[in-house]
Order: sequence, then structure tokens, then C-alpha cells
Amino acid sequence: MPNRTLGIIGGTGWLGRAIADAVLESGFIAADCLLISNRSGSSTFGPDVRVLADNQALVELSDVVVLSIRPEQFRELQIDARGKRLISLMAGVPAATISAATGAQVVVRAMPNAAVEIRQSFTPWYNAGELSEQDREWVQRLFECVGSADEVPNEDCIDYLSALSGTGPAFPAMLYRALVESAVVAGIPEAIAQRAAHGVVVGGGQLLASRDPLQMIDALMAYRGVTAAALQSMADQHLDAIVGQAVQAGAAVARRGM
Ligand SMILES: NC(=O)c1ccc[n+]([C@@H]2O[C@H](COP(=O)([O-])OP(=O)(O)OC[C@H]3O[C@@H](n4cnc5c(N)ncnc54)[C@H](OP(=O)(O)O)[C@@H]3O)[C@@H](O)[C@H]2O)c1
Repeated sequence: MPNRTLGIIGGTGWLGRAIADAVLESGFIAADCLLISNRSGSSTFGPDVRVLADNQALVELSDVVVLSIRPEQFRELQIDARGKRLISLMAGVPAATISAATGAQVVVRAMPNAAVEIRQSFTPWYNAGELSEQDREWVQRLFECVGSADEVPNEDCIDYLSALSGTGPAFPAMLYRALVESAVVAGIPEAIAQRAAHGVVVGGGQLLASRDPLQMIDALMAYRGVTAAALQSMADQHLDAIVGQAVQAGAAVARRGM
């Protein structure tokens, strides 16, 4: 695939910087084909990466532009991206709004998560414009630099998944807190409760990297022991409904827009 120039507006932020580092490290983009902009124009990239304080200059020098600024910062952004392929990482900003504000006819919305840092993000993406097969493959490969990725069939999938996979470590962190707090109430010393919960959330999560989670539940239920009793209690209290409502609450914010 021919060398494309990638510009990342907000490429010094949490997500933008991790993506920039990943595309460079994987060799997907050469340093002299990467441009970064932010408001200060300062960064810690190596000398070959061009860092600009002028977003329009970045747009003009780039084949593909990634928008990695916060939704509220988008209101202040003034770029003319006509004729460019634009990839927005912003939650809650519809493709039509981005297209109207920037003039870009090819707008992709993508939703990575904080695990870009460790190249373990799942990134759904949606193409709201005319995208060639070659461009599709390029977008997929871009997000595979930070983990796995899937093109989704409609824009609502992005709003829903913003509240599911876009939340990254939030759900396991919430489970960790619930496990620690309930163990402390049950009389377990706090430091021990924290280590125990860490083992569940982090150690257990790593084990699931090589196991099918649903088969794991079936296998543990089949023991009919301590774990099965705890899992059955969660099922009886409709954990799936609680989780489903939580994701819908987040998705409603994404659909309403920010
Ligand atoms: N973090 C996550 O886990 C996550 C997950 C899914 C989606 N997202 C989405 O990803 C986007 C970025 O999030 P983030 O967490 O990476 O935010 P962040 O760390 O705050 O980064 C924002 C970046 O944008 C730059 N910036 C702000 N206004 C700008 C402007 N007018 N022109 C150029 N650069 C500008 C900032 O640098 P200066 O201040 O120096 O200008 C900074 O580098 C958000 O839209 C968010 O919805 C984030």
C-alpha cells in the first residue's frame, strides 16, 4: 500500500499519543509521514515527526487526518478538510456534524479505548462516506496497530460501543471496587481485600485471554461449589440487566451528543 501521510490533531493527548507511538513502532507509518498538532505546538516526539500548532497546515499536509481532541474542544476547531479522509475518535459527535463543520465528505468514526496504551484496544469503526476497499483495509490496519478492530454496520453501533468497549478499564475497575468494599465490610483487612480483588480482576482477566469466558462459566457452574453459588446469586439478581442498563445509560449520552 502506498505511503500515506497521517496527521493526528490532538496527537499529544492520551489516545492520540498512544496511536502515534504504535503506528511508528509497528512501521505502519514512517516518522516523516506523521504529523501531529496541538494548541501549544510542543511535544516529545523525535525530530522526524512534524509537530505543528496550526491544524489547517496539518490538514493540508496529510492524506488522512485523525481527530483526537475532546468533544467539547471540537466546537473551537476550525479546519477545512474538503477532499481529506477524516477519522474521528470523539465520543458523541455524529459523522454528519463533523462533515458539516469540516467539509470532509469521507468521515470515519472510530472508538478505541484506553488499552491503546498496551496495544490491547478493541476499536469498532464506522464509515459514513465513500471509502474505497483499499481505504477500508488501511483504516482496519491502522487500528490493528493498537489491538483488534472491526468495521460496524451503522453509526448507532459506535454510540452503543462507546459505552461498552470505549469505557476500557472502567467496568473491571468498578468490579474491583465492589469486591474490595464488600470484603472490608465482611471483616477482611483492607490491604488483603485489595490484593484478593486485584487477583480476580487482573489475574483472572489475564487467564481469560486464553480461555473462552462462557465455557469458563459453564465449567465453574458444573463444580456446584463455592464459585457456582456466587455466580448463581449474581444471575438471580439479574446482573445482566444491571450491566445492560449501565451500558444503555452511557450510550444515551453518546447518542444525545456532547
Ligand atoms: N481516553 C479514552 O479512554 C477514550 C476512549 C474512547 C474515546 N476517546 C475519545 O478520544 C478523544 C481524545 O481523548 P483523550 O483522552 O486522548 O483526550 P486528551 O488526553 O485530553 O487529549 C486531547 C488532545 O487534544 C489537543 N487539543 C485540544 N484542543 C485542540 C485544538 N483546538 N487543536 C489541536 N489540538 C487540540 C490537546 O493538546 P493541547 O492541550 O496541547 O492543545 C491534547 O493533546 C476524545 O474525543 C474522546 O471522546 C477517549
